[in-house]
Amino acid sequence: MHYDFSWEKNHEFPCYPKRDLALIRGKKSVVWDQDGKKYIDCVSGHGTAFVGHCHPRVYKAVRRQSQNLITCPGIFYNDQRKILIKKLTEISPPYLKQFYFSNSGAESIEAAIKFARLATGKSEFISAFRGFHGRTLGALSATHNPKYRQDFLPLLPGFTHVPYNKVDKLADLVTENTAGIILEPVQGEGGVHIADPLYLKKVEQLCREQDILLIMDEIQTGLGRTGKMFAFQHFDIKPDIVCLAKSIAGGLPLGVTMGTDRISIKTGKHGSTFGGNPLSCTAASAVIHTIQEQRLDKAAARKGSYFLAKLKELRLPVIKEVRGIGLMIGIEIRVKVKPVILALMEKGVLALPAGPNIIRLLPPAVITYKEIDRVIETISNLLYSTYSQK
Ligand SMILES: Cc1ncc(COP(=O)(O)O)c(C=O)c1O
Repeated sequence: MHYDFSWEKNHEFPCYPKRDLALIRGKKSVVWDQDGKKYIDCVSGHGTAFVGHCHPRVYKAVRRQSQNLITCPGIFYNDQRKILIKKLTEISPPYLKQFYFSNSGAESIEAAIKFARLATGKSEFISAFRGFHGRTLGALSATHNPKYRQDFLPLLPGFTHVPYNKVDKLADLVTENTAGIILEPVQGEGGVHIADPLYLKKVEQLCREQDILLIMDEIQTGLGRTGKMFAFQHFDIKPDIVCLAKSIAGGLPLGVTMGTDRISIKTGKHGSTFGGNPLSCTAASAVIHTIQEQRLDKAAARKGSYFLAKLKELRLPVIKEVRGIGLMIGIEIRVKVKPVILALMEKGVLALPAGPNIIRLLPPAVITYKEIDRVIETISNLLYSTYSQK
């Protein structure tokens, strides 16, 4: 099929580094392009298709709901929102019992920033080097990478960044006006870096001592991707605010900001027209039901361990390090990643970059072992044939 790229090329603001590939159809861990060519999808909509593309429970729920009611603003109650809230209380610890619904990861962070300011009466935040929290101006203030920030200065005042996994540096920057510390339990976009086991525990202690809110950005890690429902559960900590998006609604837009009852908000202080719409809510309930029923968090743990172990066996000189947790995997290489990503695409594997030389894999939890073997073989053959001299 001839696919005309020019409409999108010429009329969309060029925000994204586009690949010449149109995705037309998806099922489980596979997508098809404009010519019917098949790819194993380790991008999975930037990690959103955790339960697999077009999961039958998700599309049936969305189809059913789209005949009943598509929009219902937050000024009214809604049955689908109620069901989602019940589902969220089933999977989250009991102290996280208030939810705010928005439409994206960045919006979930924006709400966290505003809620933390309201709850503490303070206005400063600390986040980490390599941390990524989104691109709206508040979320961007917490994001570290100068490449994303430099053209938009000044950003919000009162945001500082410290090295990840170093609690002493963090403690040095705390002031009496620090409202929150915003961290990813596993840094995704920053290169798949996992928090040290004791680090988050110490950060939690610091937050308790200094009356600071611990805000976990679980937008990429949440809902099973790291092998537990929430990645913070690997670290035995109790965050005050948890931000979710990506996996939660199977690809439909939904952000959730979860908070303890310490976070008290007066009516009218925040809101969103589309946030918590019935379509996204029904999709999210179907996703959570599927994760629970198929134990996809455990599947991510098992398949991730297999994936990582096999990748670590490769021992190619071009590979500097393989790291990851669950189905969130980074392969750091000694060459630029962009041509590697494009060559993998040619060979039927979709992968993401994370920084200039890390291949990031975020496959759906329903990826099969055979597909994992295929991805590893494709990466290995490509790196061996192209870069065996380096
Ligand atoms: C950890 C993290 N936080 C926030 C965001 C921003 O989410 P969104 O792109 O939905 O605004 C992302 C997106 O990649 C993310 O990985």
